[in-house]
Amino acid sequence: MEQSVYHIPALLEQSIAGLAIKPDGVYVDVTFGGGGHSRAIMEHLGSNGRLVGMDQDMDAWQNRLEDDRFTFAHANFSYLKNFLRYYGISGVDGILADLGVSFHHFDAVERGFSFRADAPLDMRMNRSATFTARELINTYSEERLADVLYLYGELRQSRRLASAIIKANPATTGELVEAVRPLLKPAQEKKELSMVFQALRIEVNGELNALRKLLAQSLEVLNPGGRLAIITYHSLEDRMVKNFMRAGNVEGKQEKDFFGRLNTPWRLVNNKVIVPSDEEVARNPRSRSAKLRVAELVARMTTNVNNDRLRTHIASITTDERQEKCNYKRKTCR
Ligand SMILES: C[S@@+](CC[C@H](N)C(=O)[O-])C[C@H]1O[C@@H](n2cnc3c(N)ncnc32)[C@H](O)[C@@H]1O
Repeated sequence: MEQSVYHIPALLEQSIAGLAIKPDGVYVDVTFGGGGHSRAIMEHLGSNGRLVGMDQDMDAWQNRLEDDRFTFAHANFSYLKNFLRYYGISGVDGILADLGVSFHHFDAVERGFSFRADAPLDMRMNRSATFTARELINTYSEERLADVLYLYGELRQSRRLASAIIKANPATTGELVEAVRPLLKPAQEKKELSMVFQALRIEVNGELNALRKLLAQSLEVLNPGGRLAIITYHSLEDRMVKNFMRAGNVEGKQEKDFFGRLNTPWRLVNNKVIVPSDEEVARNPRSRSAKLRVAELVARMTTNVNNDRLRTHIASITTDERQEKCNYKRKTCR
């Protein structure tokens, strides 16, 4: 039987180049997965270098690197700061995040990420968590489900889809597909099914919230001169990262100092977003929506006051922005 590949890393060379790895530096790959990016980081580390690979999915542990310089942490990256403290690491020289799911999640059909096979509606990356896609459908109002489909799946007919899903109350991926299929145009069916599944997955795993927390903590754990490299696969994630790296907040609100200079803790390493080449997309079609952004921390944030303010700011803006976007589009899109 053909053995499936756990994952093929996207934008591998570009993200490793972006990290500008110091041989004796300390690095964190917060989305370890199949370990493709971690292996490449390790190749650039000397005997005093160190790498922590985090993943909230314990399946990733099977790919751990057998190397004294490597530590695997089974954790959500929203706890990055606490985990580094636990391992006695006071500052890091680079953080890499390759967001979303791995090929393994789609291939392990029993986990409910794929619309191509019938399985329980699960979609948890962390199997110790209790909130599943089934639970989401059972507990969310039709309106809240429609918001999830609209925001995270960018599905124009989100309200009709939500209504059909709530009515059918599916327990499996196959039942979910049957519930929404009559609303999809045959030519768009695969694309829209993948958007429905993506939206539910993002909500089940609290992906945007985890990213928000990771970004805030990067300011506290990176050493000055340290690099943050993030690969996103969704426009909302990319916008958060872009704003954060430009302005120091996910809203992108630019603050200037007394001299009119932009007040940001970051220096952009690449002004333009980095996307895969045609050749990479041909070799690895799942990389097609990948976007890489890299920034260097100029000044570390040390006071809790700043970080608390930043966190509150990030949380409020995203909620308002979400509401605003829904209100604006509601009439025309549903
Ligand atoms: C796109 S894959 C990363 C693949 C990896 N770069 C490689 O080369 O194999 C994303 C991985 O991140 C993990 N992940 C996603 N969100 C996470 C989070 N908030 N905390 C920890 N791990 C997360 C997923 O379980 C998955 O294994």
